[in-house]
Amino acid sequence: MPPLAPILKRFVPSPISKMSSTVSIMLAEGRTLFDFSTGEPDFDTPEHIKQAAIEAINRGETKYSPTEGTIDVRKAVQRKFERENNLGFELEQIIVASGAKPLLADIIRMIAGDGDEIVLARPCWPSHVGMIELAGAKPVFVNTLQEAGFIMSPENLSAALTDRSRALLLCAPSNPTGAVYSSQALLAIAQVIRKHPDLWIITDDLYEHIIYDGRAFQTILEIAPDLADRTIVVNGVSKAFAMTGWRIGYAGGPRELIDSVGKVMSQAAGCPCSVSQVAAIAALDGPRDCVYEFVQAYQARRDRSVAALNQLPGLSCTVPDGAFYLYPSCAGIIGKRRPDGALIGSSSDFADFLLTEYSVAVVPGTAFELDPHIRISIATADDTLDQGIAQIARAVLQLVT
Ligand SMILES: Cc1ncc(COP(=O)(O)O)c(C=O)c1O
Repeated sequence: MPPLAPILKRFVPSPISKMSSTVSIMLAEGRTLFDFSTGEPDFDTPEHIKQAAIEAINRGETKYSPTEGTIDVRKAVQRKFERENNLGFELEQIIVASGAKPLLADIIRMIAGDGDEIVLARPCWPSHVGMIELAGAKPVFVNTLQEAGFIMSPENLSAALTDRSRALLLCAPSNPTGAVYSSQALLAIAQVIRKHPDLWIITDDLYEHIIYDGRAFQTILEIAPDLADRTIVVNGVSKAFAMTGWRIGYAGGPRELIDSVGKVMSQAAGCPCSVSQVAAIAALDGPRDCVYEFVQAYQARRDRSVAALNQLPGLSCTVPDGAFYLYPSCAGIIGKRRPDGALIGSSSDFADFLLTEYSVAVVPGTAFELDPHIRISIATADDTLDQGIAQIARAVLQLVT
């Protein structure tokens, strides 16, 4: 085979996608699994959103749109930013793409290149790391502590910044920890950023609406509007509206950056799906009771699953404030032995034991750069979740020291 491009040397596939492939293979072999590995709402897309898409198809809105999205969808995003985040963007400052993921990758490529650094909290979503590495830049991690709710401290952030730093990448509610920054915590971060005038802020707000206990979401730009010329706010409809397969993400930010991302998209990706753009308008402008119902369901699942996990020897789980993941520490499991005598030496060994012996798929903490932990998605049907957590309990109780 002729050689492949050298860029592949600095790139590994997403560990979450790898786990999803293993799960798909096992399911295809007829195994019954409790799959907590994917970050995807188990709910169906709400009816009014599907209906809007069906009507768009029937009207023949199935052609290319402008690369950056139709004026109508960008106006819906503009209204959303204004209404929910107190952010006033001009239409030219808004772009819509085929999901937040490619949008984030393009934004990072427009900001950082070879040898540059992008600072982000650890643990983090593996694709953030992959995108940074694909751009040729280096991820610089700011460690967070479970005891501190996995929140980045301004001191640790400050210490991580160098003259090669090009951006801070914020993600809250966080995947995988569900950490949410209070307005004071965001203010403290903004104070650090103000001392670095050449630093961008990329804020990945994808889990904005999945937030618990009546907490209000705030994005950093709302708290620090003086940073508007160097902050880009990224969001999407995947998680809030159970629309992962529709592939719509959007961003608002400085016009020059938005234009650059649009240029790259025009050459490499093209416009987002025209039917999905109409569906996204229905989602953004439509009723929010569906989102409220989803969040209520996740919150109830969170409460009973965290309580059940914290009963188990060797596991300790903080209560996430948002997103739909649990990120329990499995430090107390490491060093134990399976009934067959094999040592559980890492979170990967534990995840492997859960999968092969108890049919539970979780993602080991190695994927998120902070270990030993496992990530459990609670965006999973109630019965499956409860049975799967009971399986984890059986597995843990089988381990011996
Ligand atoms: C933090 C975070 N950002 C972005 C995405 C991707 O969103 P989209 O479906 O819009 O590409 C995900 C998906 O898991 C995510 O967890």
